[in-house]
Amino acid sequence: MKKLVVALLVSVSAVANAETLTILTDRPAVRLQPLVEQFKKEKGVDVIVVEKAYADMETQLVAEGTAPTADLIYIKDLVLLDKAVKKDLFQPLTNASVKARVLPAMKDHNDNWVAVSYRARTLVYDASRVDVSDIKSYEDLADSKFAGRICLRTSGGTYNVALIANLVVNKGETAAKDIFAGILSNLATDVFKNDTLMMQAIATGVCDIGIANTYYLGQAVAANPNFPVKPLFVNQDSTGVHTNGTGVGVVKHSQKAALAQEFIALMLTDSAQLHLSSQHMEYPAAVGLTANTLIANWGTFKVDAANWSIVGEQVPAAERIIKELDYK
Ligand SMILES: [Fe+2]
Repeated sequence: MKKLVVALLVSVSAVANAETLTILTDRPAVRLQPLVEQFKKEKGVDVIVVEKAYADMETQLVAEGTAPTADLIYIKDLVLLDKAVKKDLFQPLTNASVKARVLPAMKDHNDNWVAVSYRARTLVYDASRVDVSDIKSYEDLADSKFAGRICLRTSGGTYNVALIANLVVNKGETAAKDIFAGILSNLATDVFKNDTLMMQAIATGVCDIGIANTYYLGQAVAANPNFPVKPLFVNQDSTGVHTNGTGVGVVKHSQKAALAQEFIALMLTDSAQLHLSSQHMEYPAAVGLTANTLIANWGTFKVDAANWSIVGEQVPAAERIIKELDYK
């Protein structure tokens, strides 16, 4: 009897294994639910979404080695995507339609992942106190005319690491360090824990201008249509504004790569793109789509042409700059 139960369990798990796809994500699992239902309806495949922080995903996948229990990784940031590549957690995407679907700068140059949604990390300011007509770039914030007028969030997390890495790609390490040294010398007050608190400081007059992810501003404006902070998309006459965002790839030793890429293809359909990007007030990463939330009112803008994987390669340089400048 015991043998029979074991045999039954083995066969049930084999069947379940054949008909399921498991995705690890650091974004809220509930947002994938409509896609999970659609995939089940169209392919008869169950998709299990497991929510966990990137560090825990990495620990799990490294420990599981050649027998992973997950097939896809969907994570929030180019710095984390770069970490996953360096840990060799992906297998290359082979589905041509998946690769063709996403904006050129937002897919790994070795096909490890493609972006799903993105934000700009750009200047935010109070229009009643700042004349932005002569502000064109991040480096303009290093000008002494902004002394005592700038707010910033900490260097913790990954957002300013990615921004500085993008500056390194475009300007070189020495110039990027000089630019950030200038910006830090113009701070009005200590750095804030996050972009939201930083923007509240602008709104309440503690400072006039800062740098934030567009979705935080979108969320603030959604909560209060009279929120006085506006976005300014910089580098529009040069390299384009810095972007960062979510990406998805297939787990290195997944045996279900083709099926996993069909789920990615579903994530990149128009309706899924609009759903997933709007849930976080981001922009869809698929070519030719525009956001369908209030952030669309800010208009279109030129995005930095530097590929996110090239930016990711400069993360160590960015971390060096942050340390050398003692940017907390
Ligand atoms: Fe965030």
